[in-house]
Amino acid sequence: MSDPLVEATGLVKHFALRRGLFSRARGAVRAVDGVDLRVEAGETVGLVGESGCGKSTLGRLLLRLIEPTSGRVRFEGTDITELPERRLRPLRRRMQIVFQDPYASLDPRMTVGQIVAEGLQIHRMVSSASEREARVEALLRRVGLRPEHARRYPHEFSGGQRQRIGIARALAVEPRFIVCDEPVSALDVSIQAQIVNLLKDLQEELGLAYLFVAHDLNVVRVVSRRVAVMYLGRIVELADAGALFDRPRHPYTEALLSAVPVPDPERRRLRILLEGDVPSPVAPPPGCSFHPRCRKARAGLCDVQVPPLRAVAPGHFAACHLAE
Ligand SMILES: Nc1ncnc2c1ncn2[C@@H]1O[C@H](COP(=O)(O)OP(=O)(O)O)[C@@H](O)[C@H]1O
Ligand SMILES: [Mg+2]
Repeated sequence: MSDPLVEATGLVKHFALRRGLFSRARGAVRAVDGVDLRVEAGETVGLVGESGCGKSTLGRLLLRLIEPTSGRVRFEGTDITELPERRLRPLRRRMQIVFQDPYASLDPRMTVGQIVAEGLQIHRMVSSASEREARVEALLRRVGLRPEHARRYPHEFSGGQRQRIGIARALAVEPRFIVCDEPVSALDVSIQAQIVNLLKDLQEELGLAYLFVAHDLNVVRVVSRRVAVMYLGRIVELADAGALFDRPRHPYTEALLSAVPVPDPERRRLRILLEGDVPSPVAPPPGCSFHPRCRKARAGLCDVQVPPLRAVAPGHFAACHLAE
């Protein structure tokens, strides 16, 4: 097998709880709690799960925007876990992020041209002002904006256009891997498809790999080759998108999917209710952390033993004692 573009092994991120009012509850938020994940060059891996289950933290760990508590990350075959910033910098150019809220992530005091050109300058990818302007112009056109937009400010644009600016900024430095952290979640449904299609076109044209985080499963289904389902800091199911949507093996995935409206009435699913909230990642339940909400849980097994992520079919993995 060829080297993956990105490979996480045993990745853990615990955030220390601060001392204070709740000092008796001191401990750690187990945001990411032992994740193995590979992303191949040019592929999209979808990442889904309820809010707070660790998707953004995992994305940031893969890019080393935050330091892991333990575990390792390799990028293009290089272990970047402890690489000093000086040696990480040339690699950083090739791994970018597009955020959910393009407004919060775009500096309001910078023009669109400055925002898009920033990476070009940091990484010394242009040698003159005219070259820089030409690059910015080409990037704006590529994402569906106009060259004269370079002189304007982020607040002058709609949500969809701001996301295009965020994408142009990420593309400027010619990345191979982009973490798309809920890139369309904040947009109107009518705009979502435009941005999703733009990302898909760019991927085809440039051979980009994406980790595509979303809570809308219909969006994930359209963009992903493989899909990982996260629950309380762990990946509980991982499979090709088709296999995962047609025959989910983990009860959590089943419940997530059953809540999604399906256009084809022949295939209308039985709605499985996900009862209760996600438990606190400070004190996750023992055994399988999903067992208190699982309609199939078996006492003496699921509440005691942590189920490992294991192959249930070729290329299809599930962390459930009862999955087959
Ligand atoms: N910087 C931080 N400090 C403390 N806790 C954090 C921090 N970032 C995230 N968390 C916590 O880690 C958990 C996972 O968060 P996050 O990765 O943002 O989840 P998701 O993106 O799936 O909604 C949550 O409980 C969140 O409150
Ligand atoms: Mg998030």
